[in-house]
Amino acid sequence: MRKQIAAANWKMNLTYQQAEKLIDDLLALPHQLKENQQVIFAVPFPYLTMVTHKLAGKQNVFVAAQNCYNKKSGAYTGETSVEMLQSIGVHHVVIGHSERREYFHESNEMLAEKVDICLANNITPIFCCGEPLTFREANEQDLFVAKQLLESLYHLSAEDIQKVVIAYEPIWAIGTGKTATNQQAQDIQAFIRHQIAGHYSEAIANNISILYGGSVKAANAKDIFSQADVDGGLVGGASLIADEFNTIINSLK
Ligand code: PGA
Repeated sequence: MRKQIAAANWKMNLTYQQAEKLIDDLLALPHQLKENQQVIFAVPFPYLTMVTHKLAGKQNVFVAAQNCYNKKSGAYTGETSVEMLQSIGVHHVVIGHSERREYFHESNEMLAEKVDICLANNITPIFCCGEPLTFREANEQDLFVAKQLLESLYHLSAEDIQKVVIAYEPIWAIGTGKTATNQQAQDIQAFIRHQIAGHYSEAIANNISILYGGSVKAANAKDIFSQADVDGGLVGGASLIADEFNTIINSLK
């Protein structure tokens, strides 16, 4: 059974003290993870070690970086390598969030390199894809997402593609309070799985977790996660409130 994942994306929010309190508050709330369920916290770089320590000994709960660089090491001032992340016990990285694509001009080609360097270092990439509003309005969301997957993922071997977690996040639903309908999420995520099956195999496609992201909150998580091809969520705003995110965790299949 593929993994069902609640991933928090804190983005560039919270001071160190607020971050500590959020994790403490959340860990104090009741949640019982089943074997196939995972919780991941994608936190700002300066908090990775603190959160890792807080989560020590917790089963199925992981910390993630929100980005990494596509080069091994060297003269890249301000960047963070996957080796550095590995060395502090981080094994998940969010790759290609739409905010990074938009504000930092990350291309599909560059993201393919980031995926490669993660996998070469045993780090799980949480690969984000999703269309802007104009493509949704033209009913071209499938084409847009298919290109992102083709250019960033389909060079991977059958073994490696199964190590990737995919997060489908329609850009028009991120931070807007506007969620895709359950049917919209299900349709495109089924399409993504179908595409992967075509490039690899049905068994491989059925093994890959595909998360939905875009204004997931306590009130809608259960409905969205109940869709057949939605394996949990990547959650921004609502992951900053302990009981909201805890309800989201408890909404996993
Ligand atoms: P949101 O963000 O939940 O605030 O819409 C989701 C994301 O950007 O990952």
